[in-house]
Amino acid sequence: MEVIIQPDAERAAQAAADFIARALVAKPDLVLGLATGCTMEPVYDRLVQKHRDEGLDFSRCRTFNLDEYVGLEADNPCSYHYFMRQRFFAAVNIDLRNTHLPDGMAKDLEVECANYEKLIAANGGIDLQVLGIGLNGHLGFNEPLSAFRSRTRLQTLSRMTRSQNAPLFPSLNLVPHCAITMGVGTILEARHCLLLATGDEKAEVVAGAIEGPLTAMITATALQLHPACTIILDDEAAGSLRQIDHYQRIVVPSDGESKNPSELLAVTKNGHRDSAVTAP
Ligand code: GLP
Repeated sequence: MEVIIQPDAERAAQAAADFIARALVAKPDLVLGLATGCTMEPVYDRLVQKHRDEGLDFSRCRTFNLDEYVGLEADNPCSYHYFMRQRFFAAVNIDLRNTHLPDGMAKDLEVECANYEKLIAANGGIDLQVLGIGLNGHLGFNEPLSAFRSRTRLQTLSRMTRSQNAPLFPSLNLVPHCAITMGVGTILEARHCLLLATGDEKAEVVAGAIEGPLTAMITATALQLHPACTIILDDEAAGSLRQIDHYQRIVVPSDGESKNPSELLAVTKNGHRDSAVTAP
């Protein structure tokens, strides 16, 4: 696991967007797993900006979103379909036929979940999965006690999640009680995971996810099992980490590849980039 700490939310979002852009440039037909939530909004803004200013090309990119509420039409402003179209898809040159979200209006939701898994597999699996984190530690909508090997399925939303997401709805009672979400096992199969968390309200759960013992009570702890996981935080979200000094060590890439100072902000010793760093 690699932990990158940025001074503020803006720079954390920039670092996440840069990471995604680099992956897309390296593989133009990238299979990109996408997330929703307020944390992601500035990331999409920056990707749109990169498309407009630098010609970042999404024409061959294929996307799979983590989740969708059950019972919301795609044109409902509270749906994730709507969020993705408004914030991102409509503003870049992505082929809408290559964008995928679970259909929370499907007649047979179980079949929809199974088909979503098949579609991911048919596209060769997810190259880079972008993740936020819920206040209760969920990834996607994998609520506490989600099995680490779970697949795309229906989830009942917890009270905490419904109230966390309520500000995005006209009222709390309009927040759906169920969602379709990729499973923890589905997420862990992505070749690389990138989690972004900002703000002090996430500090406790982020510390649990990164440093705490593995537990299905905080599904994000499952990322400790992933061999290629990057976590980008701002100072506030990193505020409860016990090993923060270690993560913040300034390191210098030994191959001289990186000229970007934000990449020199540091890295854990147990991550996949160990060979690329040397002590200061
Ligand atoms: C929702 C999404 C999650 C996301 C979470 C965080 O619950 N299903 O995928 O990680 O929101 O949201 P925010 O970024 O608004 O804190």
